[in-house]
Amino acid sequence: MMAKTIGIGVTGGIAAYKIVDLVSRLKKDGLDVVVIMTEGAAKFVTPLTFKTISGREVLTDLWQESQEFKVQHIGVAEQLDLLVIAPATANFIAKMAYGIADDLLSTIVLANTVSVLVVPAMNSNMYRNTAVQRNLTILNEYGYRVMKPESGMLACGVTGPGRLPELDDIYDEIQQMLYPKKDLAGKRLMVNAGTTCEDIDPVRFIANRSSGKMGFCIAEEASARGAEVVLVNGRCQLEPPAGVNVVPVWSADEMCEVMRKYQPACDVIIGSAAVGDFKVATVETHKRKKPDDKSEKWVLELVGNPDILQELGKHKTGRQVIVGFAAETENIVENARKKIETKNLDFIVANDVTQEGAGFETDTNIVTLITRDGEVKPLPKMSKREVAAAIIDKVVEIL
Ligand code: CTP
Repeated sequence: MMAKTIGIGVTGGIAAYKIVDLVSRLKKDGLDVVVIMTEGAAKFVTPLTFKTISGREVLTDLWQESQEFKVQHIGVAEQLDLLVIAPATANFIAKMAYGIADDLLSTIVLANTVSVLVVPAMNSNMYRNTAVQRNLTILNEYGYRVMKPESGMLACGVTGPGRLPELDDIYDEIQQMLYPKKDLAGKRLMVNAGTTCEDIDPVRFIANRSSGKMGFCIAEEASARGAEVVLVNGRCQLEPPAGVNVVPVWSADEMCEVMRKYQPACDVIIGSAAVGDFKVATVETHKRKKPDDKSEKWVLELVGNPDILQELGKHKTGRQVIVGFAAETENIVENARKKIETKNLDFIVANDVTQEGAGFETDTNIVTLITRDGEVKPLPKMSKREVAAAIIDKVVEIL
């Protein structure tokens, strides 16, 4: 098979130095890597560094005479199987959004006809800026895949979103885009995500720490692999993946009702939401006033919520695959097996929430896949997107 050619467009941000490692890794995979740098990028890393690592001439200048191509920007664009812009600065994102072509990389973007991956990295305030957000939305609408920057301590000393995602995650995204599997084509998959909310009074409610990230990764992965996806979304701040049908819900009762409605049309159902096991017995119709006397107690009476997966399990059709999660702190396998039985599941994704890097509010997870027929497959610590891929692999195997 001929090696695929990947264009790496580097723009002028401090994260440019990290891309050297990415290029090195892609080269090791036997990919042909063409690095295109903007003038700003060359202030952070020299073209010679990228030339040495990629083993190819680094392209920087729209007006430079090319040995290889008659018309450089067109010739480069025609060679590519994938174009990655990393790091993508606010300025370059704006140029991409508005079709401005005033340097070599931006002309290549316009002449390019293959998939584009955009990896933004910048200061948090710049990233949150309405203009930048709008431009990113435009790129999404063009069908470009836009990665989310990570949150953390940035080079400028600020803490917040804007850091270049982990190279592993960029690498995985590139793999997905270069070699997309479509093994869920023609299948309909429903996944629930996030926390359910139980009202106490008109302004207060009970929820939990679930971020919804795991469910969103499953929705994204399933959609990328060709499934038609319904994401039943509890309270969750994440931006839904493009192309996924999102149904927002509030309480466990509502989530259950919605999922029961969609169930008959689904081939696969995955329960990743952290469904509240209890709801408030009597929801107050008016906002409860704060007490004058601090010692006054307010006792809430809680009653059980439906077990959504168990309900779905009762109505499972022969060919439907139902997958649950199990958050455990001990006896993982044994507890997971019990849940498989009581909820009528095909397999369970069990995690020991006491382990660091597993469970709520993290970007990673450490899980064990436990199937109905007794297979126990522990997986190493992975990004939630990788866990999603492993879950979908198992689903495909069962289907
Ligand atoms: N689940 C559900 N409805 C509930 C509770 C849980 O659909 N009311 C689903 C979860 O989405 C998850 C699986 O059941 O896929 C297991 O959830 P978990 O919290 O681990 O277990 P529980 O069944 O709540 O049991 P326990 O808390 O006693 O371990």
